[in-house]
Amino acid sequence: MGSYRPAWAPDVVDLEVPSAARMYDYYLGGSHNFAADRQLAEAALKAWPDTPYMCRANRAFLRRAVTFLAESGVDQFLDLGSGIPTAGNVHEIVQAVRPEARTLYVDCDAVAAAHGKALLRDEPNAAYVQADLRDPDAVLASPEVKDLLDFSRPVAVMMLMTLHFVPDADDPIGIVTAYREAVAPGSYFVFTHGTNEYRPANTGGITKVYENASHGIVPRDRAQIQALAAGWDLLEPGLTDVILWRPDPAELEDDPLGGDVARYSTFAGVGRSG
Ligand SMILES: C[S@@+](CC[C@H](N)C(=O)[O-])C[C@H]1O[C@@H](n2cnc3c(N)ncnc32)[C@H](O)[C@@H]1O
Repeated sequence: MGSYRPAWAPDVVDLEVPSAARMYDYYLGGSHNFAADRQLAEAALKAWPDTPYMCRANRAFLRRAVTFLAESGVDQFLDLGSGIPTAGNVHEIVQAVRPEARTLYVDCDAVAAAHGKALLRDEPNAAYVQADLRDPDAVLASPEVKDLLDFSRPVAVMMLMTLHFVPDADDPIGIVTAYREAVAPGSYFVFTHGTNEYRPANTGGITKVYENASHGIVPRDRAQIQALAAGWDLLEPGLTDVILWRPDPAELEDDPLGGDVARYSTFAGVGRSG
């Protein structure tokens, strides 16, 4: 007997192949995931029990970075590998600061795109495109991108918890560079990336689990992650642990993992193009 297919699941989705997007949704307590996603997510939690904290810290960084950029005058956001909509979506954060700001979400996952499109149906300043971020020409040529974003003015290009799904063979540095070259000077690059810098044995475990998911994970060390941001001038404090990028002091004081950066094993940064 096949798996139960809820009404919101597009027909093209293979319910038996665990998806990185829907596993992430599960870690965050969302409901847009299937039995196969939950089963593999549970295996990932055995390999790295702090994963849900890591995901929440990543979303908290997203909120801090996006708020900072909106307050600095940025009013266009291109969120690549944006995932299934969840609490604190980018367009909601930016529009609280700049109601006219525009947000374009891109993800290859069919459930993320279906849910995102439904959510944004009546939202004139945001759209969701199902596309592969590894093909910058195709992403940038899509009608939704052309309609919504003005590339003669700065854009915040976002890749959070996404580049570790792009293997070296797909040239992640080249991909980031292509987006940088497409945007106007004064644009920004906002990113987070899982790292094997602190606990190589555990990251090896989670990498093994994700061999059975839609996307394999490629944890990288600090120098390799720094190299992904080549050509962007990193704002203070540079490439840093996700909870330490311009932290909210109260949040840091109440940190559920006691501020232990190794348990997060995620680096974050915000760069500006010259
Ligand atoms: C861990 S989630 C991160 C979601 C969101 N960026 C965040 O930080 O909360 C990673 C997302 O990247 C997407 N992704 C991975 N590889 C991709 C690709 N080549 N093109 C588009 N999306 C991709 C996955 O589908 C998934 O939704």
